[in-house]
Amino acid sequence: MEASMLEEVVQNPNPYPIVAEMAYDDIWKLCEQARDLAWDPAKLDFSDLQKADLPEEVRKAGAEWWSLRAWMEHGATPYGAERLRDAIFGHQPFEVKQHVVNFIAEELRHHEASFRIANALAKYQASPQSDYFMKIIPKFHDEKEEKQMSFFAGLAVNTLFEQLSGELLQARYENARYESIREACRLILRDEARHIQFGRIVMRRFFGTLSDFDKEQLGKKFAKKLRGSLLNGVYAVVNLPADERKRSARARQLAAEHGLGATHPDHEVAIIADALKKIRADVAPYNVPIPPIPEVEGPATGPSAKAA
Ligand SMILES: [Fe+2]
Ligand SMILES: [Fe+2]
Repeated sequence: MEASMLEEVVQNPNPYPIVAEMAYDDIWKLCEQARDLAWDPAKLDFSDLQKADLPEEVRKAGAEWWSLRAWMEHGATPYGAERLRDAIFGHQPFEVKQHVVNFIAEELRHHEASFRIANALAKYQASPQSDYFMKIIPKFHDEKEEKQMSFFAGLAVNTLFEQLSGELLQARYENARYESIREACRLILRDEARHIQFGRIVMRRFFGTLSDFDKEQLGKKFAKKLRGSLLNGVYAVVNLPADERKRSARARQLAAEHGLGATHPDHEVAIIADALKKIRADVAPYNVPIPPIPEVEGPATGPSAKAA
């Protein structure tokens, strides 16, 4: 082989040393659980939805709702792919890479379960029907801010959202009156519990080592993503333009009223506010500043306004 070819090889990102020594026993434990608790969305029986006596309008609303859920779950996979690349070339131990691989596979199966539900109700929508919505989900794929942070700070942003979405999912599980939706929600929640647990490990092990810059970025990024995309019809409809808000809220309301595993738009903000309180308390010992979210927490003009 010519020397010039060898040089070309080392110019590629270098995976060596490929670390096989375990460093984080708690992360490995999550990997073992992921292996033991794997499940297959294709094996869930959705015939109860096909047979259900539901008005056409409700079927459509349910399919729209579960399509949205499917896009959102899918939105987590490119994020995971970027973290996996960083973990590989950052020479992270095996269990960190394994966890990220599990995370990607699990989010993808949540996506699959969601589009299967949408299809069983009516028809999965591969793209949002409103122009406005077309712009929201791609924001998930914007990696600008994560790329400015260290590996574990980048991971931390997502783990905070896992807590929030876990609370919403719990409410949707409780809303589900059809066995197939209930079972899908239960299995998704079980996976999400591990993602949340991973977040707690990241906090405990790595938050102390984050720079002030990373902590500030983490808080800002969390608030920006929540306000800019997730309150725009994904977690809640509160930041949507008026006409779209009305239409989107109506679809969710219909789906929730018929027990299709949705949250009523009037209840979502309270769930998010509660989850936000817990997240603020979780990150407080590490001095991660999360800017106020006025749409959810009310206008924060001072300490008294916050307490109200
Ligand atoms: Fe998920
Ligand atoms: Fe997740």
